[in-house]
Amino acid sequence: MKIIIINGPNLNLLGKREPEIYGSKTFESYFEELQLKFEKVQMFYFQSNIEGEIIDKLHEVGFSYDGIVLNAAAYTHTSVGIGDAVKGIETKVIEVHISNVHAREEFRQQSYISPNAGGVLFGFGLKGYDLAIESFLLS
Ligand code: DQA
Repeated sequence: MKIIIINGPNLNLLGKREPEIYGSKTFESYFEELQLKFEKVQMFYFQSNIEGEIIDKLHEVGFSYDGIVLNAAAYTHTSVGIGDAVKGIETKVIEVHISNVHAREEFRQQSYISPNAGGVLFGFGLKGYDLAIESFLLS
């Protein structure tokens, strides 16, 4: 089974960025834990601060991988292009947010990903990625 985690803008700063919201662990160290936990899964990780690169990656993996875990970060709330890419590919996308976006600013409550996501997880901290991968193993 091949699963990719795609993280959007500013998530490269995890560990340093607003730790009261996003925690103090880097994504790289969390990803190592995930790889150990899901050792039978071929797991990939991609992060970009550039909208078009995220769209290109969705196109690249979206017809061959078994699952995509997408935290499009701020682009979630703005990007029709990423929303259309999620709609246009075949692989199921699970949308993840570390924080509870519905307990935050109004603008974070709009998602261009959710209408075409296979599921949405938010507010579980980094554990949300773990749960998203579990969901692919169950399906
Ligand atoms: C986020 C929530 C977004 O609103 C925000 O722009 C992010 C991170 C989250 O994981 O909680 O960058 O996607």
